Amino acid sequence: MEIAIIGAGIIGLATAWRTAAAGAAVTLVDPEPASGASAVAAGMLTPVSEVTYGEEPLLRLGLASRDGYAAFVAELEDLTGLETGYRTDGIIQVAFDSDDLKYLDDLRRFQESLGVPAEALTGRECRRLEPMLAPGVRGGLLAPEDGSIDPRRLTAALLAAADRTGVRLVRRRAAGVAVEHDAAAGVRLDDGTVIRADRVLLAAGPWSGDLGGLPPGTVPPVRPVKGQVIRLRTRTPFVGRATRGLVRGSAVYLVPRADGEIVLGATQEELGFDTRVTAGGLWELLRDARELLPGITELEFAEVTAGLRPCTPDNAPVLGRSALPGLFIGTGHFRNGVLLTPVSAAILSAMLVDGPVPGVAGPFSPDRFSAEVH
Ligand code: GLY
Repeated sequence: MEIAIIGAGIIGLATAWRTAAAGAAVTLVDPEPASGASAVAAGMLTPVSEVTYGEEPLLRLGLASRDGYAAFVAELEDLTGLETGYRTDGIIQVAFDSDDLKYLDDLRRFQESLGVPAEALTGRECRRLEPMLAPGVRGGLLAPEDGSIDPRRLTAALLAAADRTGVRLVRRRAAGVAVEHDAAAGVRLDDGTVIRADRVLLAAGPWSGDLGGLPPGTVPPVRPVKGQVIRLRTRTPFVGRATRGLVRGSAVYLVPRADGEIVLGATQEELGFDTRVTAGGLWELLRDARELLPGITELEFAEVTAGLRPCTPDNAPVLGRSALPGLFIGTGHFRNGVLLTPVSAAILSAMLVDGPVPGVAGPFSPDRFSAEVH
């Protein structure tokens, strides 16, 4: 079976590796692998901390992925000898004022009703866990099984794993899907050549709707949602685990790495394909982070970046067969691309090679949008 995958972001890379490991011949097409959202993302693995009303199927998918992460990372690190910065030390969520605390209380009740309780913490308990937190922090929640990973290290390991399992990487832009006899027959590159394939997976993140050659309605609606992220550095311990905060209703998070990097994110902006870093975006992040962790102003500044999350109308990914025979879709992971990598790769590779598809995939079929597209 010849499989072509458009897009070597974190989902395309992981799926290429798993699909090649399942015995298929895989070609991965991307001019700049791992250069999109996965190079910007902080890498929180937080299905419980980020659970949202009306998104319970996404919680189940996220839990399945989080619970499969350890084995996924172990296999990847064993194969490549590369470390991914995978951590399972929990996530603390803290509240700045009484309204923020009320929100966290409601969230805790919602988590409890779903059977994924987080532990309620007083302000003092929050500071015992994270001594750099401001004295005014009102309280918080601990999700002990959530965690984090370094997406840059993860994609580097996935690239190495793909290479070792025989994935052919074509560093060119895909201009379209080649369609013959009303079915996908390969990928048309920007220089006009066609890579022929029995099946094509479109995993081009927010650019998934931009390819030529596709009948209308083939690709579900996906749009970019910008996130600005700051990278800081510390030589002394600052936060011991990923720390999320609400500051007057505005969300901010810090994700520490073992090497002293601290990732501070993220804005959420509907600005199309704009990836400019703005003074206002950075100011909001630093302002809110300083309210929670005043010592942040002492940290060394390292980098600012902006990425584009691929978002669908229901905030959930699209995983599965499209209306065009032979074309599969794997995009729309929005705020959860890193978390959902193992389960999405398992689902998509199973579909591509006709293996047994994990049951959690059910609600994420592309055809759920078919009434909305024309
Ligand atoms: N999952 C965090 C973000 O998208 O900002």
